[in-house]
Amino acid sequence: MNVMNPSKLEVTPLSPHIGAELRGLDLSKPLSEADVAAINKAWLDHIVIVFRGQTLTQEDHLRVTSYFGPIGKLGRPPKFFPPGFKSLLPGIMMISNIRENGEPIGALPDGEMMFHHDMIHHEIPHDGTMLYSLEIPTYGGDTLFASGYAAYDTLDPALKAKLEGKRARHFYNYGSTQRGDGKGTEAHAESVHPIFRTHDKTGRKSTYVNRLMTVGIEGMSDAESAPLLEALFDHTEKPEFVYRHKWKVGDLLLWDNRSSTHARDDFPADQRRLMLRTTVAGSVIPA
Ligand code: SIN
Repeated sequence: MNVMNPSKLEVTPLSPHIGAELRGLDLSKPLSEADVAAINKAWLDHIVIVFRGQTLTQEDHLRVTSYFGPIGKLGRPPKFFPPGFKSLLPGIMMISNIRENGEPIGALPDGEMMFHHDMIHHEIPHDGTMLYSLEIPTYGGDTLFASGYAAYDTLDPALKAKLEGKRARHFYNYGSTQRGDGKGTEAHAESVHPIFRTHDKTGRKSTYVNRLMTVGIEGMSDAESAPLLEALFDHTEKPEFVYRHKWKVGDLLLWDNRSSTHARDDFPADQRRLMLRTTVAGSVIPA
């Protein structure tokens, strides 16, 4: 930290294992080096950081994302972009159920979404995701975040020993929100990654599989891997490892995809929800 110009950041944890609210910064203005260092530390310490009451342009959103690393490219091929993406700067994705001519203007429009890691289905997944809320329903649509560190640290030692050093297979059709819902586009991506991921900055290990996208374990039949994965999903999603975010307009959240999964609650189909999303690019995960 810069001792001549220390950060005014206040950090308040939001649950025992994951999430902190960060107060004292107006993100519509460029941040000092000390503030950038302080928000990066808070992100690594708390996995999910929450800024309330922000008023940001798309340029601001990209600038704030870049404080945490290079901006990630959208995974979905442009041919499958929903119509609202035309209004976005490169690197920004729209999540919305608002419809024009009967078609959603954004991605992932409706209802509940299973726990997942953004971009795990890519060879080089993105480290973080930043989501900014512009319109929210009067109830529902909460986003839940589960700490992969807490799940790893408390995992049954026999299951841990059986899976240590193994890799899982991931598959995702862009647009799908429930495993096997058939709602995704034709575009898909698949990958293989360690079941327990070591964070490149903190050195801590997390569970690195999720209910929406993880389809098998390398070198095992489906019959053998399915119950092991089910046990891992159930453990990872335990309520005691979760922070539930109730959105307000102007919230900006950044979560770490290396060490957490997230899910979304259902919300009324006839109420508008509009969010803008960026990602922080990642690097190759060591085997
Ligand atoms: C996402 O998984 O990126 C979307 C989460 C949400 O809409 O709350």
